[in-house]
Amino acid sequence: MKGVILAGGTGSRLMPLTKVTNKHLLPVYKKPMIYYPIEKLVEMGVSEIFLVCGKEHVGDFVKLLGSGKEFGVNFTYEIQETASGIADALRLAEDFVDGEKFAVILGDNIFEDSFKGELEKFCNGKEEARIFLKEVPDAHRFGVAELNGDIVLGIEEKPAKPKSSFAVTGLYMYDGSKVFDVIAGLKPSKRGEYEITDVNNYFAKKGTLKATFLKGFWSDAGTFASYFRATRLLMEKDQSDCSA
Ligand code: DAU
Repeated sequence: MKGVILAGGTGSRLMPLTKVTNKHLLPVYKKPMIYYPIEKLVEMGVSEIFLVCGKEHVGDFVKLLGSGKEFGVNFTYEIQETASGIADALRLAEDFVDGEKFAVILGDNIFEDSFKGELEKFCNGKEEARIFLKEVPDAHRFGVAELNGDIVLGIEEKPAKPKSSFAVTGLYMYDGSKVFDVIAGLKPSKRGEYEITDVNNYFAKKGTLKATFLKGFWSDAGTFASYFRATRLLMEKDQSDCSA
């Protein structure tokens, strides 16, 4: 099975930590940030990983991750020339995906839940798109889903008044024979980016966007507060696993 990791972007919210290196290479507890999404894809049974990164630090990614042998996978590296959004980064994976079903994970997202079996189920089923939601106290920081059970009616990107407390996390599953046509039809948002929320809303409008609800902790690591939070959650989990 195939997976895509999006690790482009500028990491500007973590300056000056990101002045001479890339956000996804920074340590989060015991490992570089990028290890966590890689390990999640491996756990799902992915053996081919397409990694999108910015051009400034691509050499450091290759030095750290190599061919993928250490993780039991094959890496393909791709450069996103400008940080034009998550959907723009995903567009680069079209040839790699080659019409198959696949998973996408954002390089700064850290999940406790196991997704073992989830991608296989998605690949063998008839679904077009699936997102993963987590109930949070600060939904306005994220994409926020409006729901009818596990059917997603719509998503608002960082709304001032969220319609629910369910944040859209950085894990997505798509039918590769459909999603790239959707991306090709996108226009940049007000902030000048090609938004993954617009991709998801295309499927939501059609009634074909399903949601899975996460039980364990989840954090992104793109701001100082969330970066610290992700580190703390991993350390607490490690300590409770050790004392169990
Ligand atoms: O973390 C989950 C959130 O991620 C979702 O709730 C939002 O709906 C989604 O838009 C996104 O929001 P952020 O504003 O947090 O995304 P950010 O710009 O921080 O980018 C997250 C990752 O996506 C980043 O670590 C690398 C990748 N990325 C981002 C951009 C803008 C790229 O690969 N290329 C890009 O151009």
